[in-house]
Amino acid sequence: MARFFIDGGTRLSGEVRISGAKNSALPIIAAALLTDKKVVLKNIPDVYDVRTMIQLVEHLGASTHFKRNVLIIHASRLKRLEAPYDIVSRMRASYYVLGALLARAKKAVVAMPGGCAIGPRPVDMHIRGLNALGAKIEISRGCINADGRNLVGRKVDLQGPKGTSVGATINVMLAASGAAGTTVISPAAVEPEVLDVADFLKTLGVEVSGHGSHRITIKGGNVFREGASYTIIPDRIEAGTFAVAAAITRGRVLIKSALSEHLTSVLEKLIEIGVKVTFKDEGIVINGRGSKRATNIFVAPYPGFPTDMQAQFMALLATVPGTSTIKESIFENRFIQAVELMRMGADITIEGDTAVINGTPTLSGTDLMASDLRASSALVLAGLAARGKTVVSRIYHLDRGYERFEVKLRRLGAKIKRGR
Ligand code: EPZ
Repeated sequence: MARFFIDGGTRLSGEVRISGAKNSALPIIAAALLTDKKVVLKNIPDVYDVRTMIQLVEHLGASTHFKRNVLIIHASRLKRLEAPYDIVSRMRASYYVLGALLARAKKAVVAMPGGCAIGPRPVDMHIRGLNALGAKIEISRGCINADGRNLVGRKVDLQGPKGTSVGATINVMLAASGAAGTTVISPAAVEPEVLDVADFLKTLGVEVSGHGSHRITIKGGNVFREGASYTIIPDRIEAGTFAVAAAITRGRVLIKSALSEHLTSVLEKLIEIGVKVTFKDEGIVINGRGSKRATNIFVAPYPGFPTDMQAQFMALLATVPGTSTIKESIFENRFIQAVELMRMGADITIEGDTAVINGTPTLSGTDLMASDLRASSALVLAGLAARGKTVVSRIYHLDRGYERFEVKLRRLGAKIKRGR
């Protein structure tokens, strides 16, 4: 099993180009199943989860061609309407084919995703949303069996225990694209990836409005334009991760191709901690030199501080003098990186949904085990800043969502190698 071998203590310096957003690419690949026409997707990150989604749409009957971040999908005919457990269990986002297949074929069978390392992650809101559009859904033998013969545009309430849901908003948007009439989703998620999916649907010819607000309106039907070609937005979480990499190594990095408007809460926190952030035409410059201060972070849905960035900030705050806190309100078990950071000498206490971090001047390198995607990147960042050698195992978690992570870090001067 592949591992990262890191020699810590080098300040990162140089420039890095950010790849396309994984969490846009996954639903947009599923959305390409809506049409029997050819779809060209650009800026698709070559990461493991994307490869899994490509495998899934091929399993359903689409032909694909993926080279140099351009993915061509042609689902002229669907061969199957079932997403099997061996694919869904590898990647939860496989459930996006549920909405797309209901819209296109009025039927879908998708294995129920289980929990995952970051919490139980139910799909009740997806099911409730699709039910509201008239889909009949039964759960049997671990699968969601959906019948969409009566699919019709309606009002869909997506209020959940923690607010709305990114995934359920997108799944309902996909199903609504093939439902006659008008669907109104409220409250809808406003994450940039939801807007990206809406913009892609528009290039297919679907009438979508209100995306970016908590009320999205979709006028569905089955008339899709020829030759949709669409470029995915840059990955805001990859950009944030490299910003923290610069900060934690007290380096200076130019982040290219990122959209600063998607990173407001992350950059504001870095500035509060004492990191210098400069906006230039070529990108965002992150300068981690100079003194740092502790801070308090409240994770919240967009435009709040992203849950997908809290692990990386925990690593950073472990090296910043004073007492910081992180309150995670979205997922129940998302501090898994803390125990590994503590093995490097970090002083972290978990009190319910809050982590209390007392900064230490130096972390020390050791053997670490990655447990989920963002936790893995946090361990790599800590290893870059630590004194001595760090070995991070189970990096397949990281390969799910970061494109050539160690190659990009090496170009910035990091001493990191992939090996066994
Ligand atoms: C998306 O997950 C992202 N995944 C996650 O990124 C991200 O952390 C999350 O949004 C929050 O921003 C993808 O886009 C593929 P939610 P999603 O539905 O859609 C509860 C990463 O590292 N909920 O908005 O699954 C849920 O348990 C990943 O790239 C229900 O109760 O998130 C959570 O507490 C990890 N019932 C909250 O809502 C449901 O049916 C928000 O989850 C659905 C969700």
